[in-house]
Amino acid sequence: MFAAVNGRLTSRLFWSHGLAPIRETRLALRTQKPTRPSPEENAAIVAERAETKECKTPPKDLKIGSRLQTVRVYRWNPEKPKVKPYMQQFVVDLNKCGTMVLDVLALIKAEHDPTLSFRRSCREGICGCCSMNINGVNTLACVTKIKESSKPLVVYPLPHAYVIRDLIPDLGQYFEQFREIDPYLKRPGEDNFLGMRQVLQSTRDRRKLDGLYECIMCACCTYSCPPYWWLGDKYLGPSVLLQAYRWVIDSRDLAHKERLAKLRDFYSVYRCRSIFNCTKTCPKGLNPGKAIAQLKRLLAGLTEKEKPDIETPIPNPCQGEEQYPCKKN
Ligand code: SF4
Ligand code: SF4
Ligand code: FES
Repeated sequence: MFAAVNGRLTSRLFWSHGLAPIRETRLALRTQKPTRPSPEENAAIVAERAETKECKTPPKDLKIGSRLQTVRVYRWNPEKPKVKPYMQQFVVDLNKCGTMVLDVLALIKAEHDPTLSFRRSCREGICGCCSMNINGVNTLACVTKIKESSKPLVVYPLPHAYVIRDLIPDLGQYFEQFREIDPYLKRPGEDNFLGMRQVLQSTRDRRKLDGLYECIMCACCTYSCPPYWWLGDKYLGPSVLLQAYRWVIDSRDLAHKERLAKLRDFYSVYRCRSIFNCTKTCPKGLNPGKAIAQLKRLLAGLTEKEKPDIETPIPNPCQGEEQYPCKKN
């Protein structure tokens, strides 16, 4: 900022008066004698330095006591099929790790038992890998703070999911169901124009996706939904239905009728009983229960998808529009 202002000032001086004033100013600055601070200023500087030093140096007699926390973790190893799943207890010192549950699990893996298995990647609530059941709530381990307590911290894998090992659930069925709803933009009849132009969307239409596009597919909501526990092979569950709704109402998508027709059966959507466990548990603060309710209204014909504010017509070769200008450029 200073450089920019300084630069602007210098060039202005240069253009208005030539080089002489600049040279004079520089000379004056160089020959100027440094002024000595007054005794009061000196005293203030010494006091400030002493205060800063005091802040930075920890008191010598301060002893940081260990903050021990009991952690109970679900364990199961497929390589030892005869050993039934069990809860293993660890006592960890919270001074040795960060503030989140994922940090505690990493500490256990590093210092107590390297065979403990769990998924993680981004450690900041973006990738959706570290979903697990912590003290009875499905959530992300990397954004859940540890509460120091005399009660143990209890960690299970996502409930009602098959377990691959320890805290790693098998999400195969969940991702298969996600694949079934075609989670991508569909514009039937426009395959020849793919990548040739931008598909336009108004700000108002874009806002309809807020609260939906943020879903990170962690599956916390799906595995907290009782109907999904019992009918997971037929009912799509809150997370996948939220995604389905996201694509149905996207103004750029032209396949909403086909999408809704695919969902119109006894199980896919209508097993939702509006219990709203899903909304309560979502670590991203989304509302899959509401998305399902909107989807039901569309399916029942109580509402209709609005027409897009901006249409993106396909090029008309009869009028010489072989390609879009953006492609030509
Ligand atoms: S509102 Fe529907 S999807 Fe959400 S937990 Fe309840 S039954 Fe499951
Ligand atoms: S809606 Fe929330 S809980 Fe469900 S998958 Fe998306 S981010 Fe996870
Ligand atoms: S590690 Fe990515 S969401 Fe927790």
